[in-house]
Amino acid sequence: MIAIGCDHGGYALKQEIMEHLEARGLEYKDYGCYSEESVDYPVYGKAVANAVASGECEKGILICGTGIGISITANKVKGIRASLCGDCFSAQATREHNDANIVALGARVTGPGLAIKIVDTFLDTPFSNDERHIRRIKMIEED
Ligand code: RB5
Repeated sequence: MIAIGCDHGGYALKQEIMEHLEARGLEYKDYGCYSEESVDYPVYGKAVANAVASGECEKGILICGTGIGISITANKVKGIRASLCGDCFSAQATREHNDANIVALGARVTGPGLAIKIVDTFLDTPFSNDERHIRRIKMIEED
């Protein structure tokens, strides 16, 4: 199950991404928002991050205007590695190296065609499982 969420700035792109997930036969849960009326991105960043951190969903997709506020929010939740991606190279590398569990997108920065390719790359790329990457990811969580 994929958790997906956005603020008003990401609403239109979220609709396109959900249509794409449906076309791929991938299950998702929509954590809002549900219109283009102005809302506060931390509400949706936290909802998706908590769904992923609790194990309710395996991966998450977050969208706001820039992707910045919503990824900063998600990364405050323990166990979350949210990556703001504007290209497929980063989406692939953050899965292979960081085992990122949330991809964040900026709807006012990245067009829908590229955003969908980034989502596919993020969802389809496995973690490398390399010892050095496992070690570094563990270090992120250390105090
Ligand atoms: C909303 O106007 C905008 O601030 C938000 O979508 C996002 O870009 C914040 O980081």
